[in-house]
Amino acid sequence: MTVALVTGGAGGIGAATCARLAAAGHTVVVVDLDLEAAGQVAKEVGGTAFEADVSDPDANRAMIAHALTEHGRLDVLVLNAGVASDVPPDPPLDVARYRRALGVNLDGVVFGIDAGLTALQETGGQIVVTASLAALGPDMANPVYALTKSAVVGYVRALSTPLTPKGVRINAVCPGFTDTDILGIAKRLMRKQKFPLLTPDEVAGAILGIVGGDGTGEAWAVVAGRPPAPFTFPDVPTTLQADGTEVVLKPFLSAK
Ligand SMILES: NC(=O)c1ccc[n+]([C@@H]2O[C@H](COP(=O)([O-])OP(=O)(O)OC[C@H]3O[C@@H](n4cnc5c(N)ncnc54)[C@H](O)[C@@H]3O)[C@@H](O)[C@H]2O)c1
Repeated sequence: MTVALVTGGAGGIGAATCARLAAAGHTVVVVDLDLEAAGQVAKEVGGTAFEADVSDPDANRAMIAHALTEHGRLDVLVLNAGVASDVPPDPPLDVARYRRALGVNLDGVVFGIDAGLTALQETGGQIVVTASLAALGPDMANPVYALTKSAVVGYVRALSTPLTPKGVRINAVCPGFTDTDILGIAKRLMRKQKFPLLTPDEVAGAILGIVGGDGTGEAWAVVAGRPPAPFTFPDVPTTLQADGTEVVLKPFLSAK
């Protein structure tokens, strides 16, 4: 038996991911702020539900403890809970909204990984983080939303190196606009332009592809009309010494 935990599992991409994971044979823990909706999804997929606000580190530890107590192990951690940011780009900054966006979209990933890593090491498990296409290009995204999603992609890429010797894979999925509640009124405007939205199940399918693969440190772009694929980042310019020869720093981060 393998156990998967999905945050933001009560709706949209998260609920579709719970369904796909269950169909692939995983026992699923559905985590959300909305316990009633999470309970409904859990019932549909034969898993369990847990109420947590992912911006709270204690709640992250509690959701992992629930998975271990109820199901005995953790193999797949999908950190998917997220909120849109409606922080306007013009001053003055709405600090409360800014902190909320960072709390859910960024802290929710960092705290979730911190809480789940020991259990994932025991099973040789993996983490998938729901970022966004907004992390890969300027596009039409709200800047604070893009900030949070870019940050998690950077975190995933940088963490993949120290997690590899621990036997844990970590990847990000970067969906384009997907037909879920998070789009709010923007959905109507996109429909008006006949802009094709992804379905939550298409994104869930991409997540299952990542789970079934063997890559790490990748950011998979998922857009309507194209097959999901790892985004190719350009090479970083190498450092040159005074004499013009390249110098590469040897790894010095602890991987204990
Ligand atoms: N829909 C899109 O166009 C799109 C595109 C790219 C990325 N994403 C990302 O996909 C993820 C899922 O979003 P969605 O589109 O399915 O939207 P959604 O609003 O349908 O689902 C988000 C879920 O997260 C839950 N949630 C919100 N705050 C939470 C918190 N603090 N703790 C626990 N749960 C919380 C909500 O209750 C909801 O069930 C998000 O991270 C979002 O940023 C969405």
